[in-house]
Amino acid sequence: MAKIRIEGGHKLSGTIPISGAKNSVVALIPAAILCDEIVTISNVPEITDVDDLENILVHLNAKITRTVGKVEINAGDIINKEITETLSKKLRASYYFMGALLGKFNKVEMYFPGGCSIGARPINLHLKGFELLGATITEEGNHFTIEAEKLKGAHIYLDFPSVGATINIMLAAVKAKGKTVIDNAAAEPEIANIATFLNNMGAKIKGAGTSTITITGVKYLHSCFHEVIPDRIEAGTYLILASLIGDNLKIDNMIPHHLEALIAKLKEAGVEMEIGLDNITVSSPGNYKATDIKTLVYPGFATDLQQVMSVFLTQCKGRSSIEETIYENRFNSLYELEKMGAIVKVRNDNHKATIKGKTPLVGADVNATDLRGGAALLVAGLIASGVTNIDNISYILRGYDHIIEKLTNVGAKIEII
Ligand code: EPZ
Repeated sequence: MAKIRIEGGHKLSGTIPISGAKNSVVALIPAAILCDEIVTISNVPEITDVDDLENILVHLNAKITRTVGKVEINAGDIINKEITETLSKKLRASYYFMGALLGKFNKVEMYFPGGCSIGARPINLHLKGFELLGATITEEGNHFTIEAEKLKGAHIYLDFPSVGATINIMLAAVKAKGKTVIDNAAAEPEIANIATFLNNMGAKIKGAGTSTITITGVKYLHSCFHEVIPDRIEAGTYLILASLIGDNLKIDNMIPHHLEALIAKLKEAGVEMEIGLDNITVSSPGNYKATDIKTLVYPGFATDLQQVMSVFLTQCKGRSSIEETIYENRFNSLYELEKMGAIVKVRNDNHKATIKGKTPLVGADVNATDLRGGAALLVAGLIASGVTNIDNISYILRGYDHIIEKLTNVGAKIEII
């Protein structure tokens, strides 16, 4: 099994360019099948989640042409057939084919999606939305058949502003008859990026990026050219790394506004940074003080940065706390950090943890438990003394484009062995 081997303690300087957002592109690719012509998506990251979505498109007989940073999709000859369990389980975002195929054909058959094991991650809000649009759901074990005579616009209140449910309902509603309103919708930047894509094809979506989204159904969606927004979670991961071991390290081609909560917390701990229009530069690590983190839906502190931030907190003087409010099982990487010398305590309800610092980390053999947990161990390995070997690296390659190359270019001693 391939591992990532890191020789820690080397200062990083230069520029890290940010790629397109995983959590946008994994919705854009399924959404493209709603189009009745060819679409082109650019700034596409090279990550295995995109490979897995490509396999589903090929399975459905859609034509997909990939060049560096770009995909062209022609769903003209697509066949609406069951998405197999293997393909469905490869990633969480396979569930976006539920909204897209239902929106295009009024029918979809597939299995419960895959994804990181950071909680139960049910899809009840997605299904409730489809039912309110007029679909019937047949659930047999983890197999779903969702179909409708004709989808009709509806008023849908989400019990929780779920990212996935908001996007999936949007995909099903763009071609439904009449108007749909999604209330208490998620407002993450990726949702606005997907709505812009659909509107570029002729859809009528208003309010994406706010908690109320209005969709007026249309009959036809035409070709378009669309760009994926920069990945705020990738940018946040490198910004935390730069705060720990950067020497004039610049994170480039990002949208600082998308990381306001993280920037505020880093500044609170004592990080000094230079914020440009689409970049941030961190000069040198300072003496940081403990701070408390509470994950929330956007624009609150992103749960996807919680695990990487826990590494930062090991380098802050005093006792910091982390409250994870989105998922019920997202502290597994803390136990791996303990192998590197971190002093952590997880409360029984698994929603709160404390971290004592400042603690020098020491290289060790550790296991990536999920995508962002893997990224946290990689950051820990880069600041630790000695050598760190990380196992289960496929988790990391699912969501970080050219991570080894980008880090090597700024002076990291890191390789896949
Ligand atoms: C998206 O997941 C992201 N994944 C996640 O990123 C991210 O953590 C999450 O949004 C929150 O920001 C993708 O975009 C592919 P949710 P999603 O629906 O859509 C509960 C990463 O590391 N819930 O907003 O699955 C759910 O269990 C990944 O890149 C229900 O109860 O997130 C969770 O506790 C990890 N019923 C909470 O809501 C539902 O029907 C948030 O889920 C749906 C969700």
